[in-house]
Amino acid sequence: MALLETQVGIVGAGPAGLLLSHLLHLKGIHSIVLEAKSRSYCEGRVRAGVLEHTSVQMLHEAGVGERLDREGLRHEGIDLGLNGVRHRIPFVELTGKCVTVYGQQEVVKDLIAHRLADGGDLRFECGEVSLDGIETGRPRILVNRDGVMDEIHCSYIAGCDGFHGISRGMFPDGSLGIYERSYPFAWLGILAEAAPSQDELVYMHHERGFALYSMRSPKITRLYLQCAPDENIAEWSDDRIWSELHLRLGCADGWRPTEGRILQKGVTGMRSFVVEPLQYGRLFLAGDAAHIVPPTGAKGMNLAFADVHYLAQALAAQFRNGDGRRLESYSETCLRRIWKAQRFSWWMTSLLHRFENEPAFDHRRQLAELEYVMTSRAAATSLAENYVGLPLDEV
Ligand code: FAD
Ligand code: PHB
Repeated sequence: MALLETQVGIVGAGPAGLLLSHLLHLKGIHSIVLEAKSRSYCEGRVRAGVLEHTSVQMLHEAGVGERLDREGLRHEGIDLGLNGVRHRIPFVELTGKCVTVYGQQEVVKDLIAHRLADGGDLRFECGEVSLDGIETGRPRILVNRDGVMDEIHCSYIAGCDGFHGISRGMFPDGSLGIYERSYPFAWLGILAEAAPSQDELVYMHHERGFALYSMRSPKITRLYLQCAPDENIAEWSDDRIWSELHLRLGCADGWRPTEGRILQKGVTGMRSFVVEPLQYGRLFLAGDAAHIVPPTGAKGMNLAFADVHYLAQALAAQFRNGDGRRLESYSETCLRRIWKAQRFSWWMTSLLHRFENEPAFDHRRQLAELEYVMTSRAAATSLAENYVGLPLDEV
């Protein structure tokens, strides 16, 4: 058994845990990151791909934006489409800001490399993690690795262990409010070895269901099809996937995605989920541990970054001069942004998907709304302002 000591114990080495550890290091605060999976697993997990303007700025200011600068793809707008007719939403013209396409696993690789180069304490494949004494002034993280126990004494603990982690479950019964919504569809996603056939994303509402055209690099495209929540991926041959993508994404102006070898495929469920508050005693939740958005608004990783930005500031004020006010208001500060992102993600999802057996009125209203966004500068500006990322609150 080893006894260790740190200022902040961080559970989870996803985008939230890694960026938090790095931001704390910049402020001279020690942390230990405990991750259940291996380093290569974390670095290879394909998930989100769009960085808000705000997240890019944050990574730059934190000194981890060098490769992002070189390899990230600057996107100045997106296309919204309805049954094969596209309309561009020009972000820069409408908001002065843009987004950057850069895979989540690339951000994770960059953050791990920086933490290790700075002598950071990251522990992969760490074994079974449990928390103890979060309501006291001296909480502990216990790590059981093949029967060998490590005990880490912390001043604070950050639960950055995603939706399926253990941290949220440490809140006592009745102390958490849970708000959630599930959707009657999922996304079948593929990664293909194919050069993008256009530079920007295409969000297409189609009679057969939603489809999204995205990318990761000048050689790799990422595409999604709306499917059933219990869709059996084994029933989707590569040929069937491509023919469905052509049907839904093929445009009247002749544009269509380029085909290529499919490198990966999977089905992702859709859910909106928020817990309140994000703090109990000395335990603070950040990222997917506290909230999930459906991916249509591309907000998941960005929200995780905003949470840890606020948490690092609050912890620094506490450690530097014993000022606990920001820690006390951490939950409230984050939730203001979280609920705006929830609203936007729900709205994009409702706007673009086909809802089976929906009343005819609702479908016609949905089409009218899409046409409105595609033709009104005011409506397009609202979409653009949310998509590129609302400004962070000064706290
Ligand atoms: P995570 O990335 O989930 O990281 C949590 C970490 O904690 C993981 O490494 C996990 O292994 C570790 N962990 C869990 N339990 C323990 C434990 N007990 N002990 C130690 N470590 C533990 N968002 C988008 O915007 N666009 C997308 O296309 C998109 N696609 C997605 C596809 C999938 C399959 C999933 C699951 C999510 C997707 N998201 C997407 C959401 C986005 O990836 C997340 O919002 C983002 O990963 C949140 O980062 P996080 O650090 O909070 O959590
Ligand atoms: C992606 O590239 O994986 C992606 C892009 C935009 C989204 C969701 C996912 O809204």
